[in-house]
Amino acid sequence: MNILLLGSGGREHALAHKLAASHNVHLFAAPANPGILRHAMLANINVTQHEEVVKFCIASDIALVIIGPEALLASGLTDTLREHGINVFGPSRAAARIESSKAFAKDFMMRHGIPTAQYRTFSDHEHKQAREYVAQHALPIVIKADGLAAGKGVTVAKNHADALEALDAAFDGKFGKAGKSIVVEEFMYGEEASIFAISDGERFLTLAPAQDHKRIGDGDTGANTGGMGAYCPAPIITPTVLHCVEKQIIEPTLRGMKAEGYPFIGCLYAGLMIDTEDNPKVVEFNARFGDPETQAVLAVLEADFAQLLYSAATGKLDTSCVTFTARGAACCVVLAASGYPGEVRTGDEITGIEDAERFGNGTVTVFHAGTALHNNLDGTQSLRTNGGRVLGVTAHTHTLPEAITLAYQALKHIHFRGKTYRTDIGYKALQRYSLNTSKAL
Ligand code: AMP
Ligand code: GLY
Repeated sequence: MNILLLGSGGREHALAHKLAASHNVHLFAAPANPGILRHAMLANINVTQHEEVVKFCIASDIALVIIGPEALLASGLTDTLREHGINVFGPSRAAARIESSKAFAKDFMMRHGIPTAQYRTFSDHEHKQAREYVAQHALPIVIKADGLAAGKGVTVAKNHADALEALDAAFDGKFGKAGKSIVVEEFMYGEEASIFAISDGERFLTLAPAQDHKRIGDGDTGANTGGMGAYCPAPIITPTVLHCVEKQIIEPTLRGMKAEGYPFIGCLYAGLMIDTEDNPKVVEFNARFGDPETQAVLAVLEADFAQLLYSAATGKLDTSCVTFTARGAACCVVLAASGYPGEVRTGDEITGIEDAERFGNGTVTVFHAGTALHNNLDGTQSLRTNGGRVLGVTAHTHTLPEAITLAYQALKHIHFRGKTYRTDIGYKALQRYSLNTSKAL
């Protein structure tokens, strides 16, 4: 089966790695990165030009297109491909609004009784009303740009001055069109977790629950990022919580989307806040796999992954190709460039990836994100940094404490100037482990 994978981040490298291990798959990728190209042939196309993607698919007999990034989904590429009879794992533009418009997602959740924070939406011509509403709202308060803002459109404000500043900045164009409308939300207490549901528009399969680490600094401090590390399975998602998430969140969402005429085919990512076991709430939905959660979630998945996504894309979800959704445990630590999530320098040489993987002896995989090959003057090539998040060092073994230790030992082998990472990925789970162990003693 010929598959075209679109995207160029750590998530797509993890997808490529898993697809390549599936039965009878020939993989193409674009724009890709050097890690993805270890498993795939480069498709020489501009992925933002829908017609170019269609032409490539027809010429290369592509049986399935898998779309990684949200921007491509929001652009309606899925719709164009489907109009040409090409199978796509990824939602239509209408279904992707569950991520691309926070106001849409909140209104949808209200219509379908899906638990989430109380909110109000304002557009930029309601600036004054929005300021009045925010000024009298209980603290903390959350201000969100409506549209896609690469994870940077959300401010959790502890005082009214910061909240008003965030509101003014959004309406003054800080996020461009994405901030023309905003959502003002009550603050939810609890611990966050991410659950991915693979859906054919009707049926679904939830993969192992993961936890991301969105802040740049240890102890969840500092600026929000795309994600600095993840582990899986996340013990906060007990079987009771998972049952509630499926019944109260995933099922009504998929049912509601189908009933409203835009069934969700792809990976529905539920970002959750867990306070009490029987009342999980939605922080956000994404219309795609998470990054870096995917690197950990796919490590523990034992399945013919290509077959699973193909069956979803063709409307016949086949869970018989999954042996285990959570075999062992995995931890992914992101190595970022200095300055991330702000401006970063690129072009620094990266060494030691093979050493890290060799050290792991089969348990460690280093996923590329912001990397590029550089042609040296002597005719050789070297790997250079080419973005904020550079690599995801992922360890997969029997238990989470072991996976965390292995990932941290492995990343010591990798070097580039300004290498930055959190030293506490998985710390909440480790606290839970030690709690459970002391309870058992
Ligand atoms: P989002 O892009 O909506 O996922 O928001 C980014 C981050 O902001 C989330 O991962 C949470 O840590 C935080 N956040 C967003 N909304 C809320 C909320 N209503 N209550 C508490 N924290 C929130
Ligand atoms: N890890 C957060 C995201 O993918 O949106």
